[in-house]
Amino acid sequence: MSSLATIIKDDALASTLRVGFYGVAACSVVGIAAYIGYKAAGPNETYALKSRHPESNDQVLALDLGGTNFRVLLVTLSPQPRIDLKSKIFVIPQSIMLGPGVNLFRHLADCLLDFMKKEELDKSGVHYPLGKVCKSNNMRHPSNHFPLGFTFSFPCKQEGLASARLTAWTKGFTCSDVVDSDVVKMLQDAIDEKQINVKCVALVNDTVGTLMACAYKDQNTAIGLILGTGTNACYMEKIDRVGTWDGDYNEPKQVIINMEWGAFGNNSRLNHIRTKYDEEVDLSSVNPGKQIFEKMISGMYMGEIVRLIILDLMQQDLIFIGQRDGYGDYRTPLFTRGGFYTKFVSTVETDEGIAFANTRRVLEDMGIRNPTFDDCAIIQHICKNVSKRAARLAGACLTVVINRINKPNVTVGVDGSLYRYHPRFKRNMEKCIKTLVNKNIKFKLTLSDDGSGKGAALIAIVADRFQKSQMKNLPSFDENDDEEEEEARSHPQSRPSNPITFNTQSVPSTFNRTPS
Ligand code: GLC
Repeated sequence: MSSLATIIKDDALASTLRVGFYGVAACSVVGIAAYIGYKAAGPNETYALKSRHPESNDQVLALDLGGTNFRVLLVTLSPQPRIDLKSKIFVIPQSIMLGPGVNLFRHLADCLLDFMKKEELDKSGVHYPLGKVCKSNNMRHPSNHFPLGFTFSFPCKQEGLASARLTAWTKGFTCSDVVDSDVVKMLQDAIDEKQINVKCVALVNDTVGTLMACAYKDQNTAIGLILGTGTNACYMEKIDRVGTWDGDYNEPKQVIINMEWGAFGNNSRLNHIRTKYDEEVDLSSVNPGKQIFEKMISGMYMGEIVRLIILDLMQQDLIFIGQRDGYGDYRTPLFTRGGFYTKFVSTVETDEGIAFANTRRVLEDMGIRNPTFDDCAIIQHICKNVSKRAARLAGACLTVVINRINKPNVTVGVDGSLYRYHPRFKRNMEKCIKTLVNKNIKFKLTLSDDGSGKGAALIAIVADRFQKSQMKNLPSFDENDDEEEEEARSHPQSRPSNPITFNTQSVPSTFNRTPS
């Protein structure tokens, strides 16, 4: 059974990860995103976004694309400070995940419009005036747009706050003609095509959104971690430690690094700890050779690892003995790729004692009738070890980052279905971290409630303010501008009935803190 899950010696793993981590940090895509009071920059731009106290509520839209589900959110930030949100989940059909990129972005725009209609942000017959274009620099006047933050949870080369080129698809997406393209532009084109008066002002990775949403509540937050369909982390880094940094060195001297740690191992560095099941999962995926670390940990793959182990044991007649006739139907989920969902791993592990009620239910759903006590115990053992290995891998990698930050208190904002719903994942990770972390550091794993949605919204609000304050200094817009403004003032009904007010001077005071 010991080969079922490779339980790696913590020390060995830590040193492997240490070596690997520097490799990842040095050569992976470094997404540098906005952080309030911190710096956000693309190669040629720097945004130091400072803030003031709000005088009114801020509202912003956000899109969250990262797995098979896609969400549209309306986030309201009130002065308390408090974040309220309304959201709707839409499914991304497989045909869109694998089809032309332009269809994906059209689908996102359709969902956005659907949500806006439901929330009466786009009442029929009432349209937001289209953004005007400034003659001198060809920029749109932003005051007429509804700002939108886009959580796009795929590896990107971030070239600005609202400009990012997709480096590679992950997590089952393979849409054509998107890699190397600016995904913000693709989204904006789809939005404009549908005449929706929304402007995408910021793109963030889900890890960054998670860090942001958690930092909003806890000043010690320095890491954002996702353990869901995929896995990844980002962290606050001192600028002078970022070899690829070519922006300025003024305050604030920190940037957020998106590590894309799921790609760790793509260079074969993890081969010595991979099992034949990991290899099989990789080979049968849509992106063989890629996201090797992710494939050993995250929700998209964990159930499949368990399924392959079960099949292997069945082939060796070590499980479900004497029931060959019972499980001979090859159309059952057990014999179907992806048939053992990761949520089943969590369900099986919630069983305590010898009744195995949940495990039996899962096995029956898989097409196994009347499993014996031994069968159930073995299945639970497999699940426990596969998930424990994942928790240790994530925990060890996280410890390297915590030790690198090396502050007395480090909070990690965590989000993702695996972390949220697995009964032991957090505990197993914490145990692993405790054995590896520098003794002078107190760490805390905090569930970042809906970080990937809220974080993008927070960044969008600040980015929108920043753009508006920049626009104030611009020379005049079209000659028609003044007439249109006058028209709008004298016919207020031509504006939306529930206009969204943005106070260009205000952002909650909690934002206004310099990094310690
Ligand atoms: C994948 C993506 C990464 C994302 C993670 C979690 O690893 O490449 O960008 O953060 O999944 O969703």
